Amino acid sequence: MKQCFFAFAGTLAACLSASCIFAAEFIYDEEKVPPYSIPDALLAADGSKVSDVQTWRSKRRPELMNLFETEVYGKMRGKPEKMTFDVLSADKTSLGGRATRKEIMVNFAGIKDGSKMLILLYIPNGLKKPVPAFVGLNFKGNHTVANDPGITLADQWIKNNRDGLMQRQRAGSEARGTQASQWCVEMLMSRGYAFATVYYGDLEPDFDEGWKHGSRAALSKDGAKTQFAADDWGAIGVWSWGLSRVLDYLESDPDIDSKHVGVIGHSRLGKTALWAGVTDERFALVISNNSGCGGAALSKRIFGETVGRINTVFPHWFCGNFKKYNENEKDLTIDQNELIALIAPRPVYVASAVEDKWADPKGEFLAAKHAEPVYTLFGLEGLCVDDMPGVDKPVGKFIGYHIRTGKHDVLPYDWEQYIGFADRHFNYSGGLCWKARALK
Ligand code: GCU
Repeated sequence: MKQCFFAFAGTLAACLSASCIFAAEFIYDEEKVPPYSIPDALLAADGSKVSDVQTWRSKRRPELMNLFETEVYGKMRGKPEKMTFDVLSADKTSLGGRATRKEIMVNFAGIKDGSKMLILLYIPNGLKKPVPAFVGLNFKGNHTVANDPGITLADQWIKNNRDGLMQRQRAGSEARGTQASQWCVEMLMSRGYAFATVYYGDLEPDFDEGWKHGSRAALSKDGAKTQFAADDWGAIGVWSWGLSRVLDYLESDPDIDSKHVGVIGHSRLGKTALWAGVTDERFALVISNNSGCGGAALSKRIFGETVGRINTVFPHWFCGNFKKYNENEKDLTIDQNELIALIAPRPVYVASAVEDKWADPKGEFLAAKHAEPVYTLFGLEGLCVDDMPGVDKPVGKFIGYHIRTGKHDVLPYDWEQYIGFADRHFNYSGGLCWKARALK
């Protein structure tokens, strides 16, 4: 445990130095962005141009999937055969009677002391079931996402309040609701959406050797002795895999319309949400909030965070092969516009923030823009603009985008856009029913 603690301390120290001490090394000036070209998602490896949906599905999509798996995120695992779901509680009186809170323990190997994750699920009361849902991993424990004393306190690897380092411990009750502003659970309930979340540390604590304490070890033949191949999955892979396992549960819950589940994530968990949306086509809608490098931002622009920087400070996030592109983005045959394109024809929303330069807002916009040809192939409208929109001016049909005022964060403004986007694509108006009932 001590070893892991110090491993994380190293990561944290490097991370803190990131945007401050070494900031001068990174490009924040458009004029300094070196020449680059954005790969054409419709240009197959044999040089032929894809011009119909069938060829996209049978040839180009698998080709790109394979490249992202082998070069960036690593190979994903499937659904564990013996996985079980235990609904530990269902409280119909939570959030002042407006929601039912369920907690569901997922045992991946079907055994209680094996690898597991705890799903926290809120379902709006008083609406016709099933209802659509949003799913996202949280950074600090389920108990932090809402002001609800009924949520079980995490006793996994969490950061301690003193120095922010990660240790195995039970969270203190003072942390309850501290991330509530990022999740807007009450807004979701009032708009008629269920919300499911899991603490990402349940799947793998976020430090270099954290995998030894998470599902990557548990699902490997050799457990913590495993040597990962260069194309084997990293932490983002296993976090994304966990999101698919949440969806497995939701498919079994009669209160949830599992054909209308959106996956969402912020920052590193935004990278995770994108990869989950790409690898699991059951997710009907995908949202990337300020995901930046290795998420929605183009790697080849080298603006803000770079591939070399992310792989050095977070060596566990991506697969080993991704390190070939450290300070060498030009050798990547793919870029993140093609990752977004892999979500087509499902709706995808990319959001940036003005002060979040580290995540390269323009690179996020350009990646969304250059995913558009694949949506066009499906006969769908994408962003519907050629240039980056003004601040706080959301755009897009099947590809949504906004850049909002402020910092790297998820704010109620962002959620307003995401819920509106889901309402339009799911043809849903649960919020209106709610209002009508409240008026009676
Ligand atoms: C760091 C990292 C980013 C990441 C962010 C986060 O800033 O460099 O890539 O998105 O942490 O997850 O908060």
